[in-house]
Amino acid sequence: MKKNILIVPGDGIGQEVTAVGKKVLDKIAEKYGHEFTYDEALIGHAAIEATGNPLPDESLEKMKKSDAVLFGAVGHPKYDNDPSAKVRPEQGLLKMRKELGLYANLRPIKLFDELLGASSIKPEILKGADILFFRELTGDIYFGEKGRKDNGDTAFDIAQYSRFEVERIARKAFEAAMTRGKKLCSVDKANVIETSRLWREVVQQVAKEYPEVTVEHQFVDATAMLLIKDPKRFDVVVTANLFGDILTDEASQIAGSMGMLASASIGDGTGVYEPIHGSAHDITGKGVANPMASVLSAALLLDISFGLKQESEDVINAVDQVLKAGFRTGDIADSSTPKDKILGTDAIGEEILKRL
Ligand code: IPM
Ligand code: MN
Repeated sequence: MKKNILIVPGDGIGQEVTAVGKKVLDKIAEKYGHEFTYDEALIGHAAIEATGNPLPDESLEKMKKSDAVLFGAVGHPKYDNDPSAKVRPEQGLLKMRKELGLYANLRPIKLFDELLGASSIKPEILKGADILFFRELTGDIYFGEKGRKDNGDTAFDIAQYSRFEVERIARKAFEAAMTRGKKLCSVDKANVIETSRLWREVVQQVAKEYPEVTVEHQFVDATAMLLIKDPKRFDVVVTANLFGDILTDEASQIAGSMGMLASASIGDGTGVYEPIHGSAHDITGKGVANPMASVLSAALLLDISFGLKQESEDVINAVDQVLKAGFRTGDIADSSTPKDKILGTDAIGEEILKRL
């Protein structure tokens, strides 16, 4: 198979972890006789520094033309403490999502058995948890009108959803539920928010097309509690952009660390694959970042954008083998991990490559 992959490392540890993800793709190409070619593009703070624009047109054009994008992270502490900054790295990410029509963000919460001890949740509560989140990614309060009034003393962000937007993400989630445990939980705040009432109405309607799927509706506050209390009760979860952002950070603790979680953003065109973690400037440049989320994102890329199931499983398996061999990065190590088994980004990457 011949494919063109665009590498978009972005900022902070995005650079370090994406380099490992790319090596894994290269290894797979070599092993299975595929021809992957690569290009790179700028986004985020790195793009602002180089061009003044968090998503230069050139990057966007490259994304549209490529067969898939392996993305790192965006962000820089300099903006976090400056709410008045007009140009921000995150704008590049949001524009990429909108321009590429990436309305469905899949975040699988998969717990590797070896990491049962790495979570702060009790192992007996966690064991067997396997959740697939569908986070709507191009609507909601993220993309509605926002601004200030009353001389800047009042601020507003409009949350908006159309029937069409809810319908298409709901369908994707139902389709996935059909291939899994046939259980779907739709999360909203329909007791208070109007967009949530539309959300619930539309999900109920789409549900009629999937009579085999058991559907429940939960409020977002209750869901936040249930995720920790009993993560095993969930199979597929579908929710709006902001709720999905928050709930998946919480759910990452079910998998032991944010450093383990991959995601796929799909929609109308090129798919984008990225860790759910951010740019983590506190550990940038130290060579200690966990590259597994990027590696597992590469696995999702192979599966979803290229249909290469076996190759994808091979990658997941290699990560599993490395964990079984006892190797850890700092974020997933615990007091029982021997010092010589705690590896840096490149070294654990090498262990994964060896097993491929
Ligand atoms: C994510 C991130 C982004 C989001 C930020 C960086 C804009 O937190 O991908 O989850 O809020 O969507
Ligand atoms: Mn987030």
